[in-house]
Amino acid sequence: MVRSGRRRVTLYDYGFFSFDSKADFLHRSEEFWNPDKTRFWQDAGVDLVIDRREGYLFWDMAGRRLIDLHLNGGTYNLGHRNPELIAVLEQAMGRFDIGNHHFPALARTALAEALVETCTPNMRRVIYGAGGGEATDIAIKTARHTRQRRKIVSIRKGYHGHTGLAVAAGDDRFSTLFLSDRPDEFVQVPFNDLAAMEEALRGGDVAGVVIETIPATYGFPLPEPGYLQAVKGLCERYGALYIADEVQTGLMRTGEMWGIAKAGIEPDIMIVGKGITGGMYPIACTVVSEECSAWLKEDGFGHISTGGGAELGCIVALKVLEICGRPEVRSMVHYIAERFRAGLMAIQETYPDWLVGIRQDGVVMGLEFDHPQGAKLVMRRLYENGVWAIFSTLDPRVLQFKPGILLSPDLVDEILDRAAVAIGQALADVATAPREAVSA
Ligand SMILES: Cc1ncc(COP(=O)(O)O)c(C=O)c1O
Repeated sequence: MVRSGRRRVTLYDYGFFSFDSKADFLHRSEEFWNPDKTRFWQDAGVDLVIDRREGYLFWDMAGRRLIDLHLNGGTYNLGHRNPELIAVLEQAMGRFDIGNHHFPALARTALAEALVETCTPNMRRVIYGAGGGEATDIAIKTARHTRQRRKIVSIRKGYHGHTGLAVAAGDDRFSTLFLSDRPDEFVQVPFNDLAAMEEALRGGDVAGVVIETIPATYGFPLPEPGYLQAVKGLCERYGALYIADEVQTGLMRTGEMWGIAKAGIEPDIMIVGKGITGGMYPIACTVVSEECSAWLKEDGFGHISTGGGAELGCIVALKVLEICGRPEVRSMVHYIAERFRAGLMAIQETYPDWLVGIRQDGVVMGLEFDHPQGAKLVMRRLYENGVWAIFSTLDPRVLQFKPGILLSPDLVDEILDRAAVAIGQALADVATAPREAVSA
């Protein structure tokens, strides 16, 4: 056992490590992990250190119970430590490990086949990464190889991860820090702006358009009717590939397995991450069409990742797909979505000038408040009221409201009750709240 505290009396003994107090832990977090991130949350009034976790609940290390409406971006779509996923992982560990990425692998192939079956009919193969950023990098590399063009178009305030190509395709907020903003190769256009998209594609030199079906970090603005379909049409006209980032809209969160298929679009490439392994053993997937498989036939060693598609993760992912595909889960998502829609609209009736927008597609939801920092105020009050939901980094007016797909009706009602209180309290905070830009 590694002892982190210097004194003998240890109040927080986790078996694997221990801390004298929450303050002692936070001090060490700043010291040895990430000073800015640790301090940011303390300054935002969220002194959360996640300890025990179960289903859609977790407990702060000081013991406070919170309902998770953040789900780490959908990672815990099926709840924290889902018992079926734990059972499958424990069983898998009796025979498998991460495997050897150089060889044909049993679990990777089994998952690839199962995943392809859930996608639009044009999808053929799966390339694996360890996280969504890597899966985005794979998607961009694949598009470039397929089209033999360098340029990538993405959405302003889109988010695809922090790896090399993914961060370059994302918003300036993250690309400039590490000098990854490359306007010659990565062009960004506003969401829902077809004229700008056509302008970017018109030159016929774009390899692919990478786009979240509903941009999460931007606060889930919904695509205008026909927008995504028109983008797909423009891609076809100008020879660019359509890369659908389904990291936050896949796995039944819109009430269908994949948000992009619900929109009636066959993407050329699709990115899957987070929830695909329920937070138990991370992997991410890039699903590609036959045309986009060319490099896999020409040079299969073109992308190498030791932990990418770890076989233990693949086995968990098979179970996730099976759970998401159950008819009763599908009807539950629709039921939960409807219950939230009605409940949130009732709250909006009480505060029509404060809660000015409810964005919703299934359980993908963003709540828009009438203040530049509105979602941060609500986030803080929700936290005090036992609910954890996070503001949208690239639009802090909007609260990301992300319930899991297996929520019980009782918990839905509890969330709505607590949200009604917190939203009212946050409105009273507006008068004294700073309006400056957010730094997260
Ligand atoms: C839409 C989207 N794509 C990609 C990613 C990157 O995933 P990861 O953090 O696993 O690299 C994220 C992460 O938040 C995301 O929300």
